[in-house]
Amino acid sequence: MTEPQGFSAAPFEQYVPLEILERKDGFAKIRLPYKKELTNPYGLMHGGAIATLADTTMAHAVYSRYPQNKFFTISLKIEFKSPVSTGYAVAEAKITSKRKQLLFGDVIVQDDTGKTVAVASATFFLKI
Ligand SMILES: CC(C)(COP(=O)(O)OP(=O)(O)OC[C@H]1O[C@@H](n2cnc3c(N)ncnc32)[C@H](O)[C@@H]1OP(=O)(O)O)[C@@H](O)C(=O)NCCC(=O)NCCS
Repeated sequence: MTEPQGFSAAPFEQYVPLEILERKDGFAKIRLPYKKELTNPYGLMHGGAIATLADTTMAHAVYSRYPQNKFFTISLKIEFKSPVSTGYAVAEAKITSKRKQLLFGDVIVQDDTGKTVAVASATFFLKI
């Protein structure tokens, strides 16, 4: 995906091969391919990698609605439901509500069969 002018991804993201599939109207969809480098000792995709996918997908959902603002994750709660051992994980995130400078969102992560891998709820702080 070509980044809109003015948006530069976090340098951290160069270490995680995220593929941005969609980003519009407070929604984003990002895929993370399974790679050995991203696994835990049992060969499963590391929870930190899945959390990164969830957090980053929410960040892109926020960016899609507030491209002029800086924003920060202030809370990310994640439940891991099922492991990823092949294929990819794909996350969909959407903004669900806003209160003052706080943005709330939900993220669902699925594997390549559509099975739920993780669900997360996030709060972002919007700088005005
Ligand atoms: C989010 C952050 C930038 C806010 O700092 P700030 O701009 O100085 O804002 P303030 O502390 O003045 O808070 C502004 C308002 O937001 C509220 N707020 C700030 N942090 C909050 C939090 N974690 N949860 C709920 N409300 C919060 C404050 O209570 C305040 O509300 P008020 O205006 O009604 O009094 C700062 O707390 C921060 O940098 N946190 C760490 C974020 C981070 O590193 N995330 C990981 C990488 S993205």
